[in-house]
Order: sequence, then C-alpha cells, then structure tokens
Amino acid sequence: MKIAIVGSGYVGLVTGVCLAEIGHDVTCIDVDKTKINKLKKGLVPIYEPGLDVLLKKNIKNGRMSFSYSIKDGAKEATAIFIAVGTPSKKNGDADLTYVENVAREIAESMTDYKLVIEKSTVPAETGKKVAQTIRKYLPKKYRKGNKLTLDFDVASNPEFLREGSAVEDFMNPDRVVIGVESKKAEKLLREIYRPLKPKMVVTNINSAELIKHASNSFLATKISFINAISQICEQLGADVLKVAEGMGYDKRIGRQFLNAGIGYGGSCFPKDVDAFIRLSEKSGYKFQMLEEVRQINRDQINSFVKLIEDKMWIVKNKTIGLLGLAFKPDTDDMRNAPSIDIIHMLQKEGAKIKAYDPEGMPNTKAMTTGVTFSKDPYDLAKGCDCLLLVTEWAQFKDLDFEKIKKAMNHPVLFDGRNFYHDKKLDKLGFEYYGIGRPAA
Ligand code: UGA
Repeated sequence: MKIAIVGSGYVGLVTGVCLAEIGHDVTCIDVDKTKINKLKKGLVPIYEPGLDVLLKKNIKNGRMSFSYSIKDGAKEATAIFIAVGTPSKKNGDADLTYVENVAREIAESMTDYKLVIEKSTVPAETGKKVAQTIRKYLPKKYRKGNKLTLDFDVASNPEFLREGSAVEDFMNPDRVVIGVESKKAEKLLREIYRPLKPKMVVTNINSAELIKHASNSFLATKISFINAISQICEQLGADVLKVAEGMGYDKRIGRQFLNAGIGYGGSCFPKDVDAFIRLSEKSGYKFQMLEEVRQINRDQINSFVKLIEDKMWIVKNKTIGLLGLAFKPDTDDMRNAPSIDIIHMLQKEGAKIKAYDPEGMPNTKAMTTGVTFSKDPYDLAKGCDCLLLVTEWAQFKDLDFEKIKKAMNHPVLFDGRNFYHDKKLDKLGFEYYGIGRPAA
C-alpha cells in the first residue's frame, strides 16, 4: 500500500521504516529540511538500535522516500499517518497545534480518498476534531451544499513502541489497536498490518485513544506502586527486589515494570500521565490515583538525592560521578531524564559533577552547565567521592570494580536502579546503597 507518514520524529520514523520493511511504499514527511536531507542519505537523527540498517536497506530497495511537503509527499498515498509531536502545555494539556495544522494541510491538498490515521498520543475525541478539521478545509470544489463529494476516513492507531527496542516492538507487537468508524477504514488498517499477523483490537476511535492513555498510565502506576513499596522496605529493613519477585510470580500481577528506582522519565509517561489527569478532570472525573502516581514519581528523585546528602554528609565541593544520563538504556533521549534533576539538585548544594553515558552526552551538554564529561566509566571514576548509577546500560554491568575503586577518592556507590544488587560490591570494599534494600 502507498503510505505517507507526517512527522519524522521518533514514532513517525520508526513506523515509516518498519512499514517499508514489511512491504509498503512509504513516504516520510517532515517540515525540518535538515532532518529530511539527512534521512535521504540514510542517516538516522536519533539513536535507536537496528533502525539505521533498515532505513538504508529500504531506501536502497526503493520502498522509502522523503518529502518536506504534505501536498507532494501524500499525493499518491491511500493512508496517511499523523505522527507529529503533541507536547505538554504548562497546565498539562496536550498541545495539538501540530495535529490541527497537519489535518488542515491534508484537507487542502486532498484529491482522492484518504484514510487519515492518528498515531501520535492524543486525548480522546481528537479523532472527531481531526475529521471536523478535514471537513472544514476541504476545497470548495468538493462541496455540494452540506454534502462532501470526496470521501475520507479518520482512524486511531496508537503506538506502543518503547524507545531502545522500538523496531523489535513494531515487528512483534503484543497487539495492534485500531479505532475506526467505517468498514473501509478497518479493512485498510487490517491490510497494512497483515504481514505482522498481530492480535488486533478493533474498536471505535474514542476507545482506541483511551486504550493508549490507560495503558501508559497503568504502567506508570505499576512503577510508582513499587517505588512506594521501596520506601516502606527502607523503613522496615525489607528488600524490594524480593517483594517484586514474590509479587511478580502471580500471573495476574507479573514481574515487568516492578523495578524500583529513581522513577520513570522519558517523553511518554510524564507527559501522558499529566495529559490523562487533565483529560479526566475535563470530563468530570478527578483521577486522584494518577495525581498520586505523579507525586510518588517526583518524590523518588528527592529521596535519592536526600540519601546521597545523608550518607555523604557534606556534598559541597565533593566530586560526584553519574554513570548513565539517558532516561533509560539504549537511547540518547534526555527528555524528562531523572539525571538532569539530580545534576541540578546536587549542583545547587555545591557538588562538582562528572558524567558518562554511551549515547546521552551530546544532548546533556545542551541542557546543563558545569558538568565534566568523561570518556568512559573508568575516566569518570577518577577523583570521585561517590558514583551514582542512574541508567542501567548493559555495558555497565561487568565493569572492573577493582579498577573503579582505585580511581575513586572514596569507593561509595549509590545504585539508583538496583542494577548491581547481585555484585556484592560491599565485599569489594564499596560503601553500596540501593533503593528499597536493607543496608549491607
Ligand atoms: C513507554 C511505553 O512502555 C510504551 O509502550 C509506549 O509506546 C511509549 O511509552 C510511548 O507512549 O510512546 P518508553 O517511554 O520508551 O515507552 O520507555 P519504558 O521502557 O516504558 O520506560 C519508561 C520509564 O520508566 C523509564 O524511565 C524507565 O527507566 C522507567 N521504568 C520502567 C522504571 O523505573 N521501572 C520499571 O520497572 C520500568
């Protein structure tokens, strides 16, 4: 099928490349000319494992093309995915300016049937607004009184990709959710995903939009729940890892997303939880539980910094090294990364900050001042009074801790992800602190 994707950010690009890989003819559209020019050369502007290889492959076999304009890029397409940003406004609402602009441009350049699919995470009822916008901006030649002579459909197809494993997630989805209002839209969407043979959930547009909000909010709730448990564990001398294990074997609960730590970050959970709280409020329901989920997440960073301040006694002029910066491993994404708050809070107390991350340093440089960036974990350890494990990159797992200990002023490690819980670092002479665990 000929498909256009408007917005070549994270979601749009992964979707575009993967749809080409499963056999469709895809045009990725973005107003950012520098980005499009890079993509044309096969250069991926973000770090996402496996994406560059598939991009180059599908450019070579002629299934991917690029455009700066919706008018040209979507002309031939039967299906157009909207995958533009929906940033948060100050009050937590999703800002849908870009979605509206795209809907208008699609309408203004439409010459035949189009299926317009929302892929960005949007509040419920956005589908309805997109359809209204298209109706409103369709050229006059397609109107006869109140009737339209050009047919189109709007659908919702939320994405559930995780950064760092997005290609894998796209190719092996747990489910594909489609919200449709016509048989034709359903048929086309089934056709698009047919090569993946996924479990399909077919529903109306509002329900599809809500599935996305409810899924992300539920996952965020799981994380905040275990983080709350970790606080109680610390008070009672219990071990949150054992509690999570014991809970996780219950199939109704499951072990995933029960990792206590410094809380969730990234471009999705914080923004989506805010947006869902606002959406519920507007619909007349006060979602107090989600407000608490958000608060627990904020508290988790504060209590991590407090632990560092307690154990280091005086933070001023001490050198603190952050091992990991990205909001999670296998990405260079620094949006809402806990590391940034931790850096700012410790700098405020007069600490000197060093940092190392395999992919996240260039983006961090633009968001911080006064941080010394290191070339590897051993370089980072040099002269540090303590290290903080902030992002659990796989390559940090088997570091030479003897070497690290020798390089540090004092071998103190605060493990914000309980990543080294099995390393017995205390036996190696480290003062080691995890989250929600009994003191060694
Ligand atoms: C999340 C969802 O997992 C995807 O399904 C969804 O498509 C995506 O948001 C989105 O809406 O676009 P993502 O933000 O890429 O994906 O990353 P996750 O792997 O879900 O992790 C989110 C945050 O939660 C990270 O900061 C991670 O460190 C933290 N986390 C995760 C925990 O603190 N504990 C856990 O047990 C799991």
